[in-house]
Amino acid sequence: MIGALQWVALLRQEVLADVQSALDPAADQAQAIHGIWDLMLWICVPMYVLVLLALAFGVWRARRQRRTHRDIATATEEKLYAGLGVWIVIVVLGLTVLTAASFFVDRKLIPVQDAQLDIRITAKQWWWQVEYLNDDPSQQFMTANELHLPLAQKTHIELRSDDVIHSFWVPNLSGKRDMIPGRVNQIELTPRRAGKFRGTCAEFCGLQHAKMSLMVYVDENKNFASWRSAQLAAAPAPSGELLEHGKRYFETTTCAMCHTINGTTAHSLAGPDLTHLASRSTIAAGALPLNAGSLAAWLSDPQRQKPGTNMPTIDIEPDDLNALVAYLLSLK
Ligand code: CUA
Repeated sequence: MIGALQWVALLRQEVLADVQSALDPAADQAQAIHGIWDLMLWICVPMYVLVLLALAFGVWRARRQRRTHRDIATATEEKLYAGLGVWIVIVVLGLTVLTAASFFVDRKLIPVQDAQLDIRITAKQWWWQVEYLNDDPSQQFMTANELHLPLAQKTHIELRSDDVIHSFWVPNLSGKRDMIPGRVNQIELTPRRAGKFRGTCAEFCGLQHAKMSLMVYVDENKNFASWRSAQLAAAPAPSGELLEHGKRYFETTTCAMCHTINGTTAHSLAGPDLTHLASRSTIAAGALPLNAGSLAAWLSDPQRQKPGTNMPTIDIEPDDLNALVAYLLSLK
């Protein structure tokens, strides 16, 4: 028995523990949802088994009656009616418990705005703009497609959309919440386990809906503080001719018309903020890993990597491409 339980626990850990799994909760909100999932499972599975048993009994009884040409005795009939009465009571009780539980879990998920950190996430086709808000404007900064959260602190997130309806979903941390143009939705996350989790857009939003992922890092508080101060800094100045060439190219061509790199003359917000691009692990909202090869492939033909993306294909010479890639990878 103990062996079987250990085996089930191990299986659960192996199969369910994942960076994108609602069955491996790592935050208070996901834990609450997981609790109601467990409750539903333990109420509905026995009910389902009972229904199947009743069905099997009915089939068996009908066949026996056909074989023996005997009607059921009145006493048996009365027992069946009594059984039906008990079954109705069980169903009503089960549904009442589930309704009450889902009501209380739902209330637990309502943002109450007593959070220690405020973030605004704006969904776009097909990436995530992430703004860390602060009453002091000098403490605000922007990033894209990656979210860092401090461990065991409640974070309030304002959810917006710039174009069509998207949906914010980090299964290990909480349930889904729609991001609707012209409307501000809210969600709160209180992570309880440090680690890396994968979020995704959960509402079909066009051609690249499937390539709209959001990496979430839950950091120990001191790691979060150092990440935050690194993000607040301006981009490092280029060192050497190659990086200077890259920066010059970025500032004087179409790149600067859509992107921001703090500390340079590029300040447009149409595309992701690239001030600390090299501190992220992917580009194009998780479509490609961040390295020199994928960055060069993306810059020379984004439509091939992610058809429909708003990033235009630019006519770039190999020397410029080389310098641009080197410069972008220096933006730690
Ligand atoms: Cu954004 Cu689906």
